[in-house]
Amino acid sequence: MIAVLMLVTRRWIGVEARPAVERRNLLTNGLGMTPPMGWNTWNHFYCDINETVIRESGTNILMSDALVSTGLAKLGYRYRRKSDDFFWHGHTNDCWAEHDRDSKGYLVPRKSMFPSGIKALTDYVHSKGLKLGIYSDAGSRTCSQTMPGSLGHEQKDAETFASWGIDYLKYDNCNNGDLKPMKWYPAMTRALMSTGRSIFLSLGDMHPDLWADKLGNSWRTTMDINDSWESMVSRADQNEVYAEHARPDSWNDPDMLEVGNGGMSNDEYIVHFSLWATSKAPLLIGCDVRNLSKETLAILGNKEVIAVNQDLLGVQAEKVRMEGDHKVWTAPLSGYRTVVVLLNRSPEFRIITAQWDDISIPPKTIVEARDLWKHATLEKRFVNKVKANVSSHACKMFRLTPLPLSE
Ligand SMILES: *[C@@H]1O[C@H](CO)[C@@H](O)[C@H](O)[C@H]1NC(C)=O
Ligand SMILES: *[C@@H]1O[C@H](CO)[C@@H](O)[C@H](O)[C@H]1NC(C)=O
Ligand SMILES: *[C@@H]1O[C@H](CO)[C@@H](O)[C@H](O)[C@H]1NC(C)=O
Ligand SMILES: *[C@@H]1O[C@H](CO)[C@@H](O)[C@H](O)[C@H]1NC(C)=O
Repeated sequence: MIAVLMLVTRRWIGVEARPAVERRNLLTNGLGMTPPMGWNTWNHFYCDINETVIRESGTNILMSDALVSTGLAKLGYRYRRKSDDFFWHGHTNDCWAEHDRDSKGYLVPRKSMFPSGIKALTDYVHSKGLKLGIYSDAGSRTCSQTMPGSLGHEQKDAETFASWGIDYLKYDNCNNGDLKPMKWYPAMTRALMSTGRSIFLSLGDMHPDLWADKLGNSWRTTMDINDSWESMVSRADQNEVYAEHARPDSWNDPDMLEVGNGGMSNDEYIVHFSLWATSKAPLLIGCDVRNLSKETLAILGNKEVIAVNQDLLGVQAEKVRMEGDHKVWTAPLSGYRTVVVLLNRSPEFRIITAQWDDISIPPKTIVEARDLWKHATLEKRFVNKVKANVSSHACKMFRLTPLPLSE
């Protein structure tokens, strides 16, 4: 009970009276006011990438055909810059460059993968109204070891990315010996800022503590995810510890989505997407978007769940009640609303209850609940608690809106 109270207090402070954190940001591009949304090649293709698969994926994300009925880009797989300026971005991950730099020290796109070069790909992607991300590493070589890293070449590489029209850099943290990341990440942040091009910076380091939010728009908080239930829920847990560091333009990143890659059940992927959305995590699709099943599209395309992720309050969910295998995750939303995820990690169904006490709703408040996976507002009104019968490895996700006290 004390633990629960402390969590609630921390959250309350986080929302209502967040102390003015002294921030001398090196990165002031303002590109991450809500968590980024997009698609990345790694979780499905690993190093097997090329310009064709990226072009086809970009086209498919925009397309309206029988399979992708509305088009993912229209659903928000782009991120918000200024007011109405939406865009989607795709990334090439690791492995995109030749093994060595050229004689002048520049990175060279790998000919076998990108025969037309990266600039041509960026131009193509921009012509579709989308954005392109790229990958590098704050070490001597990237994590795959197949290409050089940017350590000691930050300025040259930042200028190269800017000249290609790159919009997003995922900057990893492999092969840098004993160097402290906080010593080497600022060099890339400064280099990117000096190019004059606004480039979203996603950091690969795992210890955000108090420095990463000055250097990047988002940062990793976990080891890599894999396409399994255990991996997914443990990433969500590890990321939750850092909840108080998340805020607009500074997001914790528990790694990219595995939804649609086939290793989990549909209910488990719904849990995955619900937890990432309420955790204000980057929503980076990691499956083959050229071939989405109806089920996968229904998850990645759930507008009401995406709206929770993109809510302008930008508060990351925390676990406020943990009883064995079931957990209540919650975050406040704009407009005095609250999102709650009732998560059942056990092998059998469980009745899970969120008390108003747990989720910072004033006592006796009458609440209307919308089931964000059924797309239905429940007829029943709730007072003091909301509860549900949740099947194994599944969740319920409700958006709670307080109603006027009397009529
Ligand atoms: C491009 O990559 C995709 C995905 O790995 C693969 O299916 C395709 O054969 C590749 N195409 C070329 C021309 O290498
Ligand atoms: C995936 O991650 C889980 C938990 O972190 C681990 O137990 C499992 O071995 C991993 N599976 C693969 C295929 O790497
Ligand atoms: C498309 O996805 C289905 C499963 O949803 C799979 O059976 C099929 O092999 C995939 N096709 C391609 C071309 O990847
Ligand atoms: C919960 O749902 C399961 C089926 O999913 C059902 O067997 C069980 O009786 C329900 N429990 C309660 C208390 O409603």
